[in-house]
Amino acid sequence: MGNTALITGASSGIGAEMARYHAEKGGDVVLVARSFEKLHALKSELELAHGIKAAVITADLAQPDAADSIFSETEKKGLQIDVLINNAGFGGHGKFHERDLAKDKAMMQVNMVTLVNLTHLYLQGMVERNQGKILNVASTAGFMPGPLQAVYYATKSFVISFSQAIAQELEGTGITSTVLCPGTVATGFVTAGDLDGVKAWDNAATPQSVAKCGYDAMVKGDLVKINEKGLDFMLNWVIPFMPRKSVLKMSQKFMEKE
Ligand SMILES: NC(=O)c1ccc[n+]([C@@H]2O[C@H](COP(=O)([O-])OP(=O)(O)OC[C@H]3O[C@@H](n4cnc5c(N)ncnc54)[C@H](OP(=O)(O)O)[C@@H]3O)[C@@H](O)[C@H]2O)c1
Repeated sequence: MGNTALITGASSGIGAEMARYHAEKGGDVVLVARSFEKLHALKSELELAHGIKAAVITADLAQPDAADSIFSETEKKGLQIDVLINNAGFGGHGKFHERDLAKDKAMMQVNMVTLVNLTHLYLQGMVERNQGKILNVASTAGFMPGPLQAVYYATKSFVISFSQAIAQELEGTGITSTVLCPGTVATGFVTAGDLDGVKAWDNAATPQSVAKCGYDAMVKGDLVKINEKGLDFMLNWVIPFMPRKSVLKMSQKFMEKE
């Protein structure tokens, strides 16, 4: 049985920690992102520390043909993907009508379209082998609308819905689909999404703890995993029963800068 994980967004943050955790367990990795040097540094680190094989594929997941290129690269290299971790993603702060639409379209491509494309491509082999694991990284943002990050929150809602639906379709097979929904995490995500100064990140979790939590949930075949118990309770047992206007106001407050 193979144990090769393809991880998108492996050059930093949660994705890099997932790669470290998988390699620690003896699994091979295919590291995908744009940052060539960071990916190669991680490849050397993991091969040296754990004696595993690491392949690097540099790709811009905002390009419409990214998933096809990545798939043909793994085919060419003869790599069987047993674990697919769709982790790459980014956000962006500001009122929707004031934001650069091109950035939001790239965000939708990375956070949703390429994730769906990769899942479709790699699921074919998993179905043939009746074996595989899929871990999609969404966010607690996906549980409600997000004024000041309208498109980002919507992309994460999409991922939560998509991931659960295919999990049900795959019920009874050897393949599972898990969606990880982290609260705030201290990574490059904050600066990349122009979120510096948003108080919500004052008490952010570490990427190591979030990666472990999501990876372990994937191994168990959990459907949805929220990394913090308090947030899990709020999102499932408090917010759904609040008036919609109050949820929107609270959500906007959460994204305001100091
Ligand atoms: N940090 C948080 O508070 C938080 C909370 C909930 C959910 N999440 C989710 O967690 C996931 C990982 O984010 P993170 O927090 O670890 O942030 P991060 O450190 O900024 O990592 C994001 C990763 O995505 C990659 N990426 C971004 N745009 C890309 C593109 N166009 N093409 C290829 N790769 C791209 C980046 O690589 P390159 O720049 O090298 O391409 C990087 O490896 C994201 O899906 C994010 O939405 C984060």
